[in-house]
Amino acid sequence: GSTLNPGNVTACSPSLQGIEVESSGLSPSVCPLKAFFFHRMLLSRKARLLVILGSQMVLFGLFFHMSGHNFLSRKQEPKPKHVLVLSSWRSGSSFVGQLFSQHPDVFYLMEPAWHVWMTFTHSTAQRLQMAVRDLLRSIFLCDMSVFDAYMNPGPRKQSSLFQWEQSRALCSPPACDVFPGDMIISPVHCKALCSRQPFEMVEKACRSHSYVVVKEVRFFSLQALYPLLTDPSLDLHIVHLVRDPRAVFRSREHTTAELMIDSHIVLGQHTLKEKDQPYAAMQIICKGQKDIIKAIQALPKALQRRYVLMRYEDLVRDPLAQTSQMYEYVGLKFLPHLQTWVYNLTRGKGMGGHAFHTNARDALNVSQAWRWSLPYEKVSQLQQVCGDAMDLLGYIQVRSQQEQVNLSLDLLSSSNALEHVYQDG
Ligand SMILES: *[C@@H]1O[C@H](CO)[C@@H](O)[C@H](O)[C@H]1NC(C)=O
Ligand SMILES: *[C@@H]1O[C@H](CO)[C@@H](O)[C@H](O)[C@H]1NC(C)=O
Ligand SMILES: *[C@@H]1O[C@H](CO)[C@@H](O)[C@H](O)[C@H]1NC(C)=O
Repeated sequence: GSTLNPGNVTACSPSLQGIEVESSGLSPSVCPLKAFFFHRMLLSRKARLLVILGSQMVLFGLFFHMSGHNFLSRKQEPKPKHVLVLSSWRSGSSFVGQLFSQHPDVFYLMEPAWHVWMTFTHSTAQRLQMAVRDLLRSIFLCDMSVFDAYMNPGPRKQSSLFQWEQSRALCSPPACDVFPGDMIISPVHCKALCSRQPFEMVEKACRSHSYVVVKEVRFFSLQALYPLLTDPSLDLHIVHLVRDPRAVFRSREHTTAELMIDSHIVLGQHTLKEKDQPYAAMQIICKGQKDIIKAIQALPKALQRRYVLMRYEDLVRDPLAQTSQMYEYVGLKFLPHLQTWVYNLTRGKGMGGHAFHTNARDALNVSQAWRWSLPYEKVSQLQQVCGDAMDLLGYIQVRSQQEQVNLSLDLLSSSNALEHVYQDG
């Protein structure tokens, strides 16, 4: 647009001086105003007041009209897209997080709500969910000042962020110049070389990417997330990653100490016998998954398309096809180097030895490990608290020890209740 002729503007509306507008289409709005002001002296007081008010309104209208034009004529930046990988502990979400993080278009953060929970360790998941939701919204909008509430005051490094090295974006320009942005970067190597970058780099890195992806395990209902799904300043898609609760249970047994604080927050005020706690935690997690799916099914179709369900077992059975579908769903290109990387992972060829906690070949075996390592009594008790969620997600329950250990029985149902939801999407 071009600047208005100042003389012309002063005659009609001093307040419009200096505003950049499109030159076309302006004069029809300006000229009637001139006549308006010219006749003002001839009118009575009352009418004069009305006319002044009216002209103010016209000026306001004109101003908004022109600023609207101004926005339209500005070069349109592509709107950033937002993805929430919604999951639970020990459900393969680090692996899925890496699939996003290694994409050059993606700024990724892993479990930022850890900072909220670790600030309020005596609170409950229910009480903290709105704070977590608001943290997510700020992160999606690349406003990292939100972490001021959860970190010590004073200058900090990007390494103050929980699991920052899992984010390729924080290991490559503009955050860190050591690695190029379009290659697979090992978190181990990144941690060694990029930990001294100032915290301001997090915001810079976020703003320089077209996707902001966050993985989070600390939601148990859609209630808190609903406002994000409908927020016009966001373009949010949810990838809901679930895993067979029996495999999750087994994995949690091996990481009880690591998960202690989180489990305490999940269980809230309940005082339970120690042996009942793992089942109570799983019951809350399974109920959360069921509630989220039911809430999605109750949404209008347009919002349902913003949600996709993914089973970890499907991913480890066919990582290339599932990754390809997941990228396509959110609109990311499955670039050649990413295809080779995922292919390598399926062959057990991680880069740099133990760069990642999981590779797909081990994952396939591990996803079955509960069948020979959990006693049937535990499986049975777990199926009692998680049965509804398992039925909904297509995890077939076993009715005996014999069925449990018989590996020729496939316990993954090929069709599940949600198919009609995500085939539309
Ligand atoms: C895949 O594996 C091959 C052979 O080990 C290796 O040369 C290549 O760098 C790997 N590619 C990626 C992207 O990991
Ligand atoms: C799967 O894991 C079990 C136990 O860790 C092991 O005995 C078995 O050989 C593994 N199978 C494969 C195909 O890797
Ligand atoms: C295992 O399951 C298969 C398929 O249902 C069945 O044919 C077979 O007899 C079972 N084996 C045992 C030992 O129960």
